[in-house]
Amino acid sequence: MDHFTFTRKDFPANFLFGSATSSYQIEGHGFGDAGPTHWDSFAATPGNVVRAENGEIACDHYHHFEADLDLAAAAGLDCYRFSTSWARVLPEGTGTPNPEGLDFYDRLTDAMLERGLKPCATLYHWELPQPLADLGGWRNRDIGNWFAEFTEVIMGRIGDRMYSVAPINEPWCVGWLSHFLGHHAPGLRDIRATARAMHHVLLAHGRAIEVMRGLGMDNLGAVFNFEWATPVDDSAAAQAAAETYDAIYNRFFLGGVFKGAYPEPALKGLEPHLPKGWQEDFKTITQPVDWCGLNYYTRKVIGADDGPWPHYAELDGPLPKTQMGWEIYPDGLYQFLSRTAADYTGDLPLIVTENGMANPDVITAGRVSDPERIAYVDAHLARVRRAIADGVPVQGYFLWSLMDNYEWALGYEKRFGMVHVDFDTLVRTPKTSYYALKEALTG
Ligand code: NOJ
Repeated sequence: MDHFTFTRKDFPANFLFGSATSSYQIEGHGFGDAGPTHWDSFAATPGNVVRAENGEIACDHYHHFEADLDLAAAAGLDCYRFSTSWARVLPEGTGTPNPEGLDFYDRLTDAMLERGLKPCATLYHWELPQPLADLGGWRNRDIGNWFAEFTEVIMGRIGDRMYSVAPINEPWCVGWLSHFLGHHAPGLRDIRATARAMHHVLLAHGRAIEVMRGLGMDNLGAVFNFEWATPVDDSAAAQAAAETYDAIYNRFFLGGVFKGAYPEPALKGLEPHLPKGWQEDFKTITQPVDWCGLNYYTRKVIGADDGPWPHYAELDGPLPKTQMGWEIYPDGLYQFLSRTAADYTGDLPLIVTENGMANPDVITAGRVSDPERIAYVDAHLARVRRAIADGVPVQGYFLWSLMDNYEWALGYEKRFGMVHVDFDTLVRTPKTSYYALKEALTG
């Protein structure tokens, strides 16, 4: 597929298109006096990350940000979703700010505005300052205060120019993926740590919203990740397993922020490990937000498992897969948009804050052809249009990602960009999907 089947005119006039990135994945954490993070330590521990790769240089966006934003603007995008590195701004996690770090985000913000791109910030996209990780990181309740301080410092500097802000990217990854599955920093496999991290990440979210309201900011949201859970068969055991998966993955965080309650199937295993008085924190966690962001990539086929809680197993599914091994299931995006509005958010605007695919893209005679990505995005945007036609208030779509980058524990080999990056020379080459999107948005 070389062209999209839609143009901008097929969406409501105020619908926003953007691309998303994150600080550690693109900036080059080794530049500009940033402090150490738990991702640097995690990657330096053998066995955690493919080839022990880290974000020290990444795309060197730190020195290439103007050219990168030129590419985003020339594609006809309205918005640019980026994140602010806590350790770049506050190398110790709290205390004295790094002037170079603050200056960088100041320049980056102005560079977006100069190009007509709306700055959409995420405060935390996973690189925790190491000194805070040493104090227990997300397990320590004080993280609410530490995060409030970081929010105040960074938004005190650039908050006046933000179009929108979300405090934390994908709380499930911060909590479950990093503390129960151990696949991301800090690489723990500990249910008590998990319960606390899952709760504290929402507490920190609420604290940041309070701080930003205090600074007079608006258009504040939350960004969650979603995976549709398909029971492997219609047995009661498989249904129950899928419900537990859904509760932990999808409903826990939505429930916390929008209902001030956690779902029963998740509490079953987590409640004994939550900190004392956790219900009291819902006052903070349920601070009203202005929109809800959904990151969506795939589904999981779920079966029952005899082992300890959570009693489910992820099984191999039959659908075509991306380079990540993730099944391509566009209907899941439609299902989540509809269900989130129906069960949690009502009329609140929904934004698809991430969607995209990894593909083993290569340069051939100066060109990178990625028809698979065009087909993937096209199919997902068709589901967005279907949700809009049903009356679901979806107001934006962000492609992950502007350019190939550091895919965390999978290193540099999984390519998610619509712009190819040669990680030896740092040369950027727009792929076919980039030109197709540009045609759809500006043609
Ligand atoms: C979600 C995350 O926000 C982002 O960091 C990651 O690269 C993409 N999904 C793809 O896995």
